Amino acid sequence: MLYVGVGGGMELLQFAYFNRQKGDVIGIDVVDEMLKASQENFKEAEKQNPWFKSDFVELKKGDAMNLLVEDNSIDVAAQNCLFNIIKADDLKQAIAEMYWVLKPHGRLVMSDSTCEQPMNDELRNDGRLRALCLSGSIPITNYVKMQLMLILELYKFGLVNLTEF
Ligand SMILES: C[S@@+](CC[C@H](N)C(=O)[O-])C[C@H]1O[C@@H](n2cnc3c(N)ncnc32)[C@H](O)[C@@H]1O
Repeated sequence: MLYVGVGGGMELLQFAYFNRQKGDVIGIDVVDEMLKASQENFKEAEKQNPWFKSDFVELKKGDAMNLLVEDNSIDVAAQNCLFNIIKADDLKQAIAEMYWVLKPHGRLVMSDSTCEQPMNDELRNDGRLRALCLSGSIPITNYVKMQLMLILELYKFGLVNLTEF
């Protein structure tokens, strides 16, 4: 499994719960502080959860725009609230990277915050608000249209399952 944009590492813990094998989950983040925070959280998780070992997760520094992971090596590639802070022009590249590392029949799992109405450009382009996930959201209809277009037309994923929650 591959998870890009690890944050505090909580989703990596959830993925590790199902895999429970050394190095079976890879977490990638471009920010040193986030990798460090995840590592510390894993140490604490190890103390509190008898099933968990920190080495179930391999943390790597890297960029969603250039994943340093072998092509065709991943069963499930996932991201949460990363693609909605990546600028629209870069999204194609970020999805392409996920596509190349997936094995045939692999699965791409994406979840992002969306909004009901468009946000103005001043808010949208404010790097700080964007990084805090406060202004990156795009209207749900555009999100669905754009993601489906990228996925279906560019990379021909076989089946798309969309859930709103
Ligand atoms: C909004 S946080 C979401 C964190 C986590 N996925 C969650 O749901 O709690 C975005 C994360 O993506 C990381 N990130 C931002 N740009 C990135 C990039 N180009 N490549 C890899 N990670 C990136 C940030 O450092 C941060 O940890």
